Amino acid sequence: MSIIRLPGLVDAHVHLREPGYEYKEDFASGTMAALAGGVTMVLDMPNTNPPTSTPERLADKARRAAAKAVCDVGLFVGATNTEGDAYLPVAERACGLKIYVSDTFGSLRIDTLELMHRLFRSWAEKAAQVGYRMDGAARGVGPITVHAEELMLPVCLALSHLYRVPLHIAHVSRRSEIELIRAAKERGVFVTCEATPHHLFLSTDDLPRLGARGDMRPRLATPDDVAALWEHLEAIDIFATDHAPHTLAEKGVGVNELPAAPPPGVPGLETMLPLLLTAVHDGLLDLDDIVTRCVDNPRRVYGLPAQPDTWIEVDVDSVYELTNADLKTKAGWTPFAGQRVHGRVERVVLRGETVYAQGEVLAMQGRGRVLFQGE
Ligand code: NCD
Ligand code: ZN
Repeated sequence: MSIIRLPGLVDAHVHLREPGYEYKEDFASGTMAALAGGVTMVLDMPNTNPPTSTPERLADKARRAAAKAVCDVGLFVGATNTEGDAYLPVAERACGLKIYVSDTFGSLRIDTLELMHRLFRSWAEKAAQVGYRMDGAARGVGPITVHAEELMLPVCLALSHLYRVPLHIAHVSRRSEIELIRAAKERGVFVTCEATPHHLFLSTDDLPRLGARGDMRPRLATPDDVAALWEHLEAIDIFATDHAPHTLAEKGVGVNELPAAPPPGVPGLETMLPLLLTAVHDGLLDLDDIVTRCVDNPRRVYGLPAQPDTWIEVDVDSVYELTNADLKTKAGWTPFAGQRVHGRVERVVLRGETVYAQGEVLAMQGRGRVLFQGE
């Protein structure tokens, strides 16, 4: 046994599904999965039902999270074709603005360049009044985070450059994308990006084996795309899970009739750290690469508060197989089931209290804080 201590991880991209899809996940089950994965802060996406696109809905979501979460939670607001930038009055209460310009689960995709101009312009105007958030301060707004694949990526880069808004690119998966982001960074564009464990450790080669369990947006990419992410590791600011739980039945696994439109997305909160520690064991990463991308950079990109007296204890000698049965997510499955990993989360301490130990969540629901809601 060889226990190391790391800061609690920040997962800057999760879908905790409340309200509307509580049968897939809710703030209790999702944040319990987070603690089991060594994650003490999550940023929750707005593609719920209804979406987090207005001040009332953000307030409602914050109330739900405050009652149930066992780790700290930041909430994104999202732009919609019908409500535009209705979230603007409460922009400071969100960790950032999420804009979808590529297809995925939910109804949040923005369809016109005209609306994109308006969304970037109004966010920039708001930032001109209140500034961008630094170091967890109550004041200021976060960046604009986009799901922008392929040809949509340069559109977002151009708008962020035009309106001088910090842009964060969610789940980068292709060589063409990471090379463009790197080139943009080298030319001084204010852009950061993230990669998920599934895009770093799986490729189209795994699809025959995974079937529907390998379907997510962005889709798994080619081995050459995966190689490009590793080649350009320096340009990847954040590792985030894109934890996107759906039931296996919805994905069409183990049911007689295939669903017409199986939802894309895979759970990830409980497997990210063991997978990354296995990459350390294999010499692909070092521990600093993990802390930089799962703690320091998410905090810097989103201006998140530090979590005092908060750490995780990991047994880096523990070698075991990831299984579905051990998971706390309601989805109850992982595309990494059966994989041997090095490194097990033994204990999680949040603000001085042991909230997880030896496989059990010890925290009371509501122990987690919702960020930026004011007093
Ligand atoms: C996500 C979901 O299910 O909410 N699905 C996915 O495949 N990643 C949506 C998203 O992040 O695009
Ligand atoms: Zn997502």
